[in-house]
Amino acid sequence: MSGINVDDLVRPDKVHSSIFTDPKIFELEMQRIFYRSWAYLAHDSEVPEVGDYVVRSIGRQSVIVTRSEAGEVHVLLNRCRHRGNAVCSLESGNSSFFRCPYHGWTYKNDGDLVGVPFPDAYGDSLDKRGLGLTPLPESDSYQGFIFGSLAPQPTGLSDYLGPAKEVIDIFVAASPTGKVELRAGCQRTVFHGNWKYVGMDGYHASFTHRSVYNLLKRKGLRAGRPKDASLPAKAVAYPNGHCRLIGGRNTANALEEYVRPQLETDEGKAYFALLEGKYGADEAFRVLVEARDPHIGIWPNLQIINSHVRVIRPLAADRTEVLLYPALLADTPPAINAERLRRHEWFYGPAGFGQPDDAEMFERNQQGLQCDLEPWLLLSRGLHREETLPDGTVVGDITDEVPQRSQMRVWAKAMAEADDR
Ligand code: FES
Ligand SMILES: [Fe+2]
Repeated sequence: MSGINVDDLVRPDKVHSSIFTDPKIFELEMQRIFYRSWAYLAHDSEVPEVGDYVVRSIGRQSVIVTRSEAGEVHVLLNRCRHRGNAVCSLESGNSSFFRCPYHGWTYKNDGDLVGVPFPDAYGDSLDKRGLGLTPLPESDSYQGFIFGSLAPQPTGLSDYLGPAKEVIDIFVAASPTGKVELRAGCQRTVFHGNWKYVGMDGYHASFTHRSVYNLLKRKGLRAGRPKDASLPAKAVAYPNGHCRLIGGRNTANALEEYVRPQLETDEGKAYFALLEGKYGADEAFRVLVEARDPHIGIWPNLQIINSHVRVIRPLAADRTEVLLYPALLADTPPAINAERLRRHEWFYGPAGFGQPDDAEMFERNQQGLQCDLEPWLLLSRGLHREETLPDGTVVGDITDEVPQRSQMRVWAKAMAEADDR
């Protein structure tokens, strides 16, 4: 028993601030959210060759994603079956084997145990076939995004993602061959705040990022809501806690001020010709505009924002690591990918104009929540005007707290489920 009553913490229009500050609640989140849900791990393009591997984590548990000699992706716990040592200490590499540094047990990159030093000491009692690195109970991928789960899942990955799949489809459709590649490195930030603050907030931009807006204005560029009312700015909450922000510069303004000028260049023309050949001109335009900023969050730890893939890694109630992987488009003229990187850097880069502001707000939030005489936080913005569609998707204005309410509903349901479900 956890001793935590979730009904005391989440109401339809507010949440108790202890869900962001209480270490006991954080521990329960590990058990009931991160160790029970699908979680994003890596992308196919990070392990393209036989023997490639990356080490990732689900909560505090270390996981190896490897490509075996047979070319298949395996998702294995990074824990030796002898006495539990982490068998892989590098974050990525290429190897046919993982040798445990403690006593030398050796595993193939599909997890099979193939070597035990001085095996005579076990007599006939050691059956190597049952002592491979433990595969995760569930692993699957969608459009190259590899997910895993530490617990059996009631639904497959495809059902779990639901309508959010269409947004991932648009993101990869910007490549003429439908593939993105995470090979531009990784940018890591640790901030002193709770993991649930990250992303999916359409209310903060004009204030938290005011310096960027002022800069854009000085350059004669528009920011914020599109002027075209036929392209409304929306916040969308899909089933299972996935959320999306639609609007602002990723629609009308993006088309006028970024996409069209890019298509005037020689490489832009060549790129558009490839997309046009695949989709037709109208659909190619739609892909270009929408893929500029999918702005989707896949609960609990993946977000695809602008041109990067973002992973949220909770370390403690008041400490979170955020990893940003700029995504390049496969089979696309280099200038197009260079523009994606420059665009990423100027807002989201370590010295960018936007992302550091967000981390600053998250730390100040954690600081503010130390004052707990009035512990309830309001999430009622737009509650009276949000619309629920037949498939359960909820839609509101982009500045409404539709994503926050949706994620808290999913959070509360998961946190209330008993340990012996
Ligand atoms: S803990 Fe790995 S070989 Fe002993
Ligand atoms: Fe922001």
